[in-house]
Amino acid sequence: MNNKLLHTPEGVRDLSPEVFKKKLELSNNIMKVLNDRDFLTIQTPSFEYFDVFAENIGMTPSRELYKFFDREGETLVLRPDFTPSIARAYAKMYFDEEKPVRLCYSGNTFVNGSSFHGRLKESTQLGAELYNDPSCEADAEMIALVAQCMNAAGIDDFVISIGNGEFFRGLCEEYGIPEKDEAVLREMISDKNYFAAGQLLEGIDISDDFRELIVHISELYSTKDSLKELLKLVNNARSASAISRLLKISDILEKQGLLKYVAFDLGMLNKYNYYTGVLFRAYTYGNGDAVIKGGRYDNLVKEFGKDCPAIGFGIYFDELLTAVMEMDGKGANRNEYLTFALTKGRLANKTLELLEKLGITCEEIKDKDTRKLLFVNEDLKVRFFLAKGPDVPTYVESGVADIGVVGKDTIEEENRKVFEVLDLGFGKCRMCVCGPASAKEILKTRNMIKIATKYPRIAKAYFNEEKHQTVDIIKLNGSIELAPIVGLSQVIVDIVETGSTLRENGLEVLEEVCPLSARMIVNPVSMRMQSQRINELISKVKEAL
Ligand code: PRP
Repeated sequence: MNNKLLHTPEGVRDLSPEVFKKKLELSNNIMKVLNDRDFLTIQTPSFEYFDVFAENIGMTPSRELYKFFDREGETLVLRPDFTPSIARAYAKMYFDEEKPVRLCYSGNTFVNGSSFHGRLKESTQLGAELYNDPSCEADAEMIALVAQCMNAAGIDDFVISIGNGEFFRGLCEEYGIPEKDEAVLREMISDKNYFAAGQLLEGIDISDDFRELIVHISELYSTKDSLKELLKLVNNARSASAISRLLKISDILEKQGLLKYVAFDLGMLNKYNYYTGVLFRAYTYGNGDAVIKGGRYDNLVKEFGKDCPAIGFGIYFDELLTAVMEMDGKGANRNEYLTFALTKGRLANKTLELLEKLGITCEEIKDKDTRKLLFVNEDLKVRFFLAKGPDVPTYVESGVADIGVVGKDTIEEENRKVFEVLDLGFGKCRMCVCGPASAKEILKTRNMIKIATKYPRIAKAYFNEEKHQTVDIIKLNGSIELAPIVGLSQVIVDIVETGSTLRENGLEVLEEVCPLSARMIVNPVSMRMQSQRINELISKVKEAL
C-alpha cells in the first residue's frame, strides 16, 4: 500500500458520512426555499472558456484561475464562481424572454488562491439570480431571500449589510475625483481604512464635515432613520437616488419583519466595480468573512449578447456549514468576549498602556515572568493574546481575534482581509531601501539588483510597480543588515527607526519606501456582529490619542 496517496492536495478535502449528511440536508433545505419561490434550478459545466471569467467580467483575478488547454488549444478555466456562467446560460436559454426569470444553482467552484491561508480551493456554492427586473422590489425580494436562506439554515443571529455603490459614484462625480483616485479611495473605504481615506481626500476641495461624512459613512448611517438624515445632506441626484432606493427597500423589508437583520453600509464597495447598484452581504459567527455575497450587476449579461438587468447572490456554502456546525457546538453568547491579538513586545506594551487609559485593563498580562499566552478580564469580557507580528493579521482575518494591533509594514506584507480602522500613531518608523553609499548608483541603473528583505511583497511592489525595475529578492528572517555586509545582496528593504543599526554597520538609507506606524485592525464579521461595541472602542481610542 502506498500511504503517500492517502492525503489530499492542499485546499481540497474529503467529507465524512456525518458531515456530508449535514451538508446535504442543509443544501436541500436551502434549495427548497429557492425552488418554493419559483427559482428554477439549472446546471452549467464545471469548466468553460477563459473569456467567460475574464477580468472585465469576473471577480477572480486571472492568476487565481485554474487554467488549462483543450485539444484545439483553447484556454479553459474551472469555474471560480457561478454568476458569469449562469448569466451566459441564461442569455442563451432565455434570449427572447422579456419577463423576469428566476434561476438557481448549486455546485463546486475552484479558486487557486494563496497557499497556507487555510482557505479551500474547491468549495461549494449555492445561489440565485433574478433577471429582467430592474425594480427595487426585485432588490428587496433577493435580500429577503437571503434572510430566508439563513433562517432555513437554522441561523437567526446574523446581519445583512446593504450598500449601494451608486452613492459613492455620485459623490465622486460631484467632487470631480479623478478615476485613479476613485479606485484607490474605493479600496480604502471598503477596507475601512478611514485614516488613509481622510488623507487622500485632503487634497480635494470639500468641507471638513463632508470629508468626515464620507470617511465614516459606514458607522454614521447604518439605520433607516439615519439614511433619511443623510438624504437631506446630499446634493447630487445620483447619490440621493441611491439612498432613496435603499429607503424603499427598507420599507418592503420592514413590512416582512426582516429589517431587524439589516444594517446599511454605504461604505461597502466592490473593489472590481462589478456591481452596478445595491449590494449586500450576510454575516454570522463562526467565519472570518461573509457567508452570502450578492448584488445588482446590470452590465454583466450584455457581455453575453443580451442587455438585461440582473441581481443575484452566492452562498459560500462550506462557510455556512461551518457556521451551522459551530452553532451546534456552542449555542448562544458567542459574542461574549472581545478578543484582542497584540504584537508581542513594544507594540503590545504601548497598546496596553493606551487601553488602560480607557479603563480596559488586564492585570495578569503585566506579569513579566508569565508564560501564559491568553489573558482574560472576566469583568470586562475582554481577552488578549500576544502573537508574533505577521501572525496578528492571520488571527484577525480568521475571526478568532476581533481586533489586532500591528505595524503597517506587516499589514502590507501579509495582505489579509481585515479592516484597518485606526492609525495609533506609535511605533513610528520608515520602510527604506538601505545599503552602502556606493549602492546609490546601482539603484539608478536598469540592471538586476539583489535585495535582501523580510518584506518580499513590499519590496516587489516598490521595485516592480513604482520603479519598474527587475530585482532578485532574497527572503531573510532577521538581522537583514548583515546581507549587504557579507555580500548576499547589494541592498536591503527594511525598517529604519532610529537609524542606529544602519550607522553601526556602515550602511545608510538610500530611498524611502513609505512611513509606518502601528494600526488597529478589525475582523469584518466582528465589525458587523459587534458593531456597537467595536465602534465605541474606536471612538474612545481616537479621543485618547
Ligand atoms: C528592526 C529592523 C532593523 C532595526 C531598525 O529589526 O529590521 O534591523 O529594527 O531599527 P533602528 O533604525 O532603530 O536601528 P529588529 O530589531 O526588529 O530585529 P530583526 O533584525 O531580527 O528583524
